[in-house]
Amino acid sequence: MQSVLLSKAREYENEHIPKISPALLPRFHVTGEVGWINDPNGFSLYRGEYHLFFQYNPYSTHWDTMHWGHVKTRDFIRWERLPCALAPDESYDKDGCFSGSAIELRDGRHLLIYTGVRKTDDGDEYQTQCLAFGDGINYEKYENNPVISDELLPEGGSHVHFRDPKIWESDGKFCVVTGNLTCDGSGAVLLFESDDAVHWSRVSTVAASENRFGRMWECPDLFKLDGKDVLLVSPQEMRGDGMEFIFGNTTLCLIGELGDDGVLTRETEHTIDYGLDFYAPQTVPTPDGRRVIIAWMQYWNSVEIRPVETLPFFGQMTLPRELNVRDGRLIQKPVRELENYRKNRVSYTDISVDGKTTLPGIRGRSLDLTVAVRPDGTDLYKSFIVNVAEGEGYVTSIRYRPDKGTVLVNRSRSGWPENVMNHREFAVRDRQGEITIRFILDRYSMELFVNGGEQAASFAIFPPEEADGISFESKGKALINIEQYTLDI
Ligand code: FRU
Repeated sequence: MQSVLLSKAREYENEHIPKISPALLPRFHVTGEVGWINDPNGFSLYRGEYHLFFQYNPYSTHWDTMHWGHVKTRDFIRWERLPCALAPDESYDKDGCFSGSAIELRDGRHLLIYTGVRKTDDGDEYQTQCLAFGDGINYEKYENNPVISDELLPEGGSHVHFRDPKIWESDGKFCVVTGNLTCDGSGAVLLFESDDAVHWSRVSTVAASENRFGRMWECPDLFKLDGKDVLLVSPQEMRGDGMEFIFGNTTLCLIGELGDDGVLTRETEHTIDYGLDFYAPQTVPTPDGRRVIIAWMQYWNSVEIRPVETLPFFGQMTLPRELNVRDGRLIQKPVRELENYRKNRVSYTDISVDGKTTLPGIRGRSLDLTVAVRPDGTDLYKSFIVNVAEGEGYVTSIRYRPDKGTVLVNRSRSGWPENVMNHREFAVRDRQGEITIRFILDRYSMELFVNGGEQAASFAIFPPEEADGISFESKGKALINIEQYTLDI
């Protein structure tokens, strides 16, 4: 039975989405088309297709009582819209169906596990983990929800901040990790297990911030990759730490070994994405053995700003990326399926740049562009800049300084106002002046993949479509190779 609230959301979508011009939407990044979205939810393979849900308020471009919006894809690039999947229509989730995940059950059903938020009359709040079973379009909430609630918390664990279950199956058992606020005022990741996905017990605290990495830890994900255990979390209120972590809500990757006791022995700790807009990532394993990640491409600290007032949506997802672990670090590359959409190859080799230059045929706003820079001769150039989305007062620039070993992205002329964070500098591996940057550009975003995915950096940008120029600027002589494809999606 479809509740009044869910019917209302679906009717709203049916009425408004068909009227939206595709020219206003990203070409290949997921948005809600109407309303507001945040975190990716329920990223899972179901009956041979990848489903993606998201935190969603269909009715306005601002965050409000959360629904789950829904899309699916066969190749991570072309997405098909499906009707709203969950509405906050039960007593235990009346204040929001918060983030969660999904899995295909052996009996053919699609299982969603999400956080139900319930505020009490006396001003308290409970976050509990709830189930819904469905067929890829319609979902029925489990009659005995919630299935994980505060009595399973460790001592001192907060029932107000207990959310974002990520589910997977291992050795015939279901496992779930959630975020939780501990009594020291900072976050932890809890591990639960179950034989039937209905009756759960707590196994361990996988890892905790102990006030080192921000406060509450949101949206955990835990998986094995390339022989290591990888824990992803999104800490709130990070203090900012040199060039590694930005201030506010950011992301953290912990790599190590998960013991039989369910506790992670950490070996390395780093940020997941070095841009300004990347939060709450979630991963899915693919049948061909890949681990694919997607995140909300937006920074919580700038959500009150509408760079373009007239857009029907707010919030977009990153391009899905393939993950690997190498030398204790996460490597990210755009999913290989993107290559099927490349057209109009333009390439240049060994172009010497000293000063500012443009190259015939190198321009566009729906692009897969790779720029490889190296010194020309024995002298190291001082800096190299790639300007994209350039024209009539607009430019987004990426500057590499080989002497400092840093990349600085400046998007202060990309459509965002002055008062938001528009600069991001991060350290890259020293390769004596050699650097390769792959740019993925869409209408409202720029994603960078540095040195074969050693670092990814995501930025929402909002210059007008006509700002499609690309130029190169070198202080000192540099040699570049370029390969550009337009993305025809
Ligand atoms: C992260 C988050 C989650 C929560 C959801 C609410 O962005 O705060 O912890 O479930 O957003 O929309």
